Amino acid sequence: MSQKLETFFKPKSIAVVGASKNSTKIGHATLKNILISDYDCKVYPINPKEKEILGVKCYKTLNDVPGKIDLVMVSVPAKIVPQIMRECVQKKVENTIIISSGFSEIGDHKLEDEIKKIAEKSNMRILGPNTMGYKNASDNLDASFVFGVPRKGNLSLISQSGALGIGMIYLANNEYVGVSKIIGVGNKLDIDDDDLIDYFSTDPETKVIGLYIEAIKDGRAFMNSIKACDKPVLVVKAGRSAAGARATASHTGSMAGSDKIYGAAIRQAGGIRCRDLVELFDMARALAGQPPAQGNRIGIITNGGGLGILLTDACEANGLTIPKLSQKTYNKIDKILPDLIRPNNPVDLVGDAGFYRYEASTRALLEDPNIDGVIVASVHGGYARPREFTGAILKMIRERKLHEEFKKPILGTWIGGKEFEDLVLDLKAAGVPIYPSSWRTARAMTALYLEGERIKRERKQKRG
Ligand code: COA
Repeated sequence: MSQKLETFFKPKSIAVVGASKNSTKIGHATLKNILISDYDCKVYPINPKEKEILGVKCYKTLNDVPGKIDLVMVSVPAKIVPQIMRECVQKKVENTIIISSGFSEIGDHKLEDEIKKIAEKSNMRILGPNTMGYKNASDNLDASFVFGVPRKGNLSLISQSGALGIGMIYLANNEYVGVSKIIGVGNKLDIDDDDLIDYFSTDPETKVIGLYIEAIKDGRAFMNSIKACDKPVLVVKAGRSAAGARATASHTGSMAGSDKIYGAAIRQAGGIRCRDLVELFDMARALAGQPPAQGNRIGIITNGGGLGILLTDACEANGLTIPKLSQKTYNKIDKILPDLIRPNNPVDLVGDAGFYRYEASTRALLEDPNIDGVIVASVHGGYARPREFTGAILKMIRERKLHEEFKKPILGTWIGGKEFEDLVLDLKAAGVPIYPSSWRTARAMTALYLEGERIKRERKQKRG
């Protein structure tokens, strides 16, 4: 069980064992998802009673299939799975996905061990059991039984919970975060988080890796994979509390372990721990679209003093700093502010700030060598013009891409209602990280800072 996962994610032939004509069955949904994928491969439904399913020729057993099978998806009751796995080994199948439940997650370790033993001497890789499968959005392949099509992008997600994995597809779509691959690891009999981190670290379609985990089987391998990975790895580790750890044991039959040890180990390996899934997507959006911050010195621009203070507190609470402006930057911003107010950091553009004040002050902070990242914020008050605020952010992001010296992240914060929401959707669709909360913005900036630090460490290590 040692080969790379290339034929697993990009198979040229797939068989579905337990394919059914009955549209309420998982084997039917699995076959249909493959067929409706815009993906070029041979498809073989396997069912002892049927001649064809969904218009595709059906085979009684895997052995009857002519030629090689790269991936077998198994959707028959647990007690039949060992027999199917023997057939897979005989047929020299490269990869299997065992969708079936009824193994270690309900305490039946014997049945799971039996499968492990059957596959032991082969090169076959196994996902699951008790998994939803995966969706490879980059290649348009849906090798799962669940609904939902992710928007294409470069976040690859690994989930120990099938249901949450499905929820993540919808959450990602809602948040306009594009996904390359999403995979449910189930009971992790063979393919584990570390295998997937290793694969995604070399996958050109993956830029950011996100995990939802309840327990880690091989802590050392997990940490080594994060350490060796030259892409940001975001981790939501559930079971922080004693009650949460108890819930973990009854959900996947695994032990949550000491939360403090997990937290320290993830940090040490260079991963970023996220509080929850929304935070994971917030950070992923920033990491996918913005350059990492070269340091922790943040400049804040706002049209509302209160929002500036909230952002300052949230940044400081997360290890970022809000330095005083240099004289040069002070002078630049002073020219564009009304007479009544003097520049500071946070820069308060005051309530009637329009496009020019936002644009010019953002540029001044981007040009300042003492600033590593910029947060541009707006409160939708009486005089505020949301369209001018969002327009300025878009312009500065475009301009930053043209100027080498502007390679600093820009994040947006907004507090407002419906009129603002529609504009923000356009920004999100354009990949601009913008958040409806000071805390969420600060956490996303923290991820960019941590990523900058990780890259520096990596470069140092390479230099020896
Ligand atoms: N080879 C091929 N097909 C076989 C077979 C064999 N050796 N033995 C039986 N089958 C066929 C059955 O005849 C049936 O087809 P039919 O509808 O034409 O009769 C099909 O395989 C499925 O078997 P069935 O007994 O009807 O099972 P099912 O579809 O009700 O349930 C599972 C099978 C795997 C879906 C179910 O056991 C299960 O584990 N469900 C939970 C899955 C889950 O939630 N996974 C985790 C997600 S995160």
